[in-house]
Amino acid sequence: MRVLGLETSCDETGVALYDSERGLLADALFSQIDLHRMYGGVVPELASRDHVRRAVPLIRQVLAEAGCSLQDVDALAYTAGPGLVGALLVGACTAQAMSTALGIPAVGVHHMEGHLLAPMLEENPPAFPFVALLVSGGHTQLVRVDGIGRYQLLGESLDDAAGEAFDKTAKLLGLDYPGGPEIARLAEQGTAGRFTFPRPMTDRPGLDFSFSGLKTFTLNTWQQCQAAGDASEQTRADIAYAFQQAVVETLVIKCRRALKDTQLKRLVIAGGVSANLQLREQLGAMLSKLGGQVFYARPRFCTDNGAMIAYAGCQRLLAGQQDGPQVAVHARWPM
Ligand code: KG4
Ligand code: ZN
Repeated sequence: MRVLGLETSCDETGVALYDSERGLLADALFSQIDLHRMYGGVVPELASRDHVRRAVPLIRQVLAEAGCSLQDVDALAYTAGPGLVGALLVGACTAQAMSTALGIPAVGVHHMEGHLLAPMLEENPPAFPFVALLVSGGHTQLVRVDGIGRYQLLGESLDDAAGEAFDKTAKLLGLDYPGGPEIARLAEQGTAGRFTFPRPMTDRPGLDFSFSGLKTFTLNTWQQCQAAGDASEQTRADIAYAFQQAVVETLVIKCRRALKDTQLKRLVIAGGVSANLQLREQLGAMLSKLGGQVFYARPRFCTDNGAMIAYAGCQRLLAGQQDGPQVAVHARWPM
C-alpha cells in the first residue's frame, strides 16, 4: 500500500510517500520559519495561507522524486489535529478532495501519534512495548506504548511544554524563533556550574512535568546579571547552558522513573525537542547503565514532517481504519 501523507498542523508543510513494502519513497518539507520570524512566533492566518501555496507543488515534487503518478497512490493520510485549525483544514481539505477525485481512502492522523512512530522509519526500529517521551512545541508526555493505537498516558506537563519553554526562554534572552536550536547552539559556549537552575517536580513522586517556573527563573537570573552590569555574551551562554541542562536532567529523571515503573528498557524520544543533542546523549548514557536502549528519528523527522504522517496513516489503514468524506479537524485532541 502506498500512502501519501500531508502534515500542515503548524508552520511546516510536509508531504511524503510511504510504501508498506518498500518503505519511504520520497519526502519534502517547506518550513515557514522565515515568514514568522519577525513576529517571534507563528501567526496562524499567515501559516494557513502559506500551506495553501505550498501543498500542491510539494505533492508534485514528492511524486516526481518517487517516480510515481497520482494513479500509484493507494490512500491519503493527513494530520487531523491537534494544531492550528486553519492550518489543519488545508491538509484535511486537500486530502479529502484528492480522496474523492481519485476514489481512494483517506485517514486523519493524530499529530503526536505521527511523532511517536517517526523512529519506526529508521534502520533499527524499536520493538513494542516501549516507553515514549513526546517532547514538542505543544506537548510533553510520557506514554507506555504496547502497539499501534495502544497508548497509556503515564505523565504530562501541567503547564508549558518542553519546546514551548525553550521557545519562551529564548525570546526573553533575545534569541530568534524557534528557540530550541538557538538555545542549544548558545549553550555550547556556556560554562558548566556557573548557574544552577531547579529541576522542577523531581523531588516528589509521579511522572508529571512543570516547565513554566524555569522560564521565570531564567528571566530573574538574566535581569539580575544585567542590573549588575553583566550582560555579556558569555553570561547569556552560561544561562542558556544552565537552562538546557535543567530541562534535560528533569526529562532524564522522569524517563528513568517511567522505565522503572513499567519495567521496560526501551525508550523512544520523539517531537522537536528530541533533536536536542544533550538530551539524546544524556538519555543514551542513562539507558546504557540500565542495559537498555534509546531510539530516535533522524533530526529532520524529529520536527514536523510528512513522512511520520504517511507512516502512521499507513499503519492505521492496514489495521482497517478509514474515515468518511467529512472534513473534521481538532485544535485539541487527546491521543
Ligand atoms: O515537533 P515540533 O516540530 O512541533 C510541534 O509539534 O510542536 O517541535 C517544535 C519544537 C519547538 O519548540 C522547538 O524550539 C523545539 O521543538 N526544538 C528543539 C530543538 N529543535 C527543535 N528544542 C531543543 N533543542 C533542539 N535542538
Ligand atoms: Zn509536531
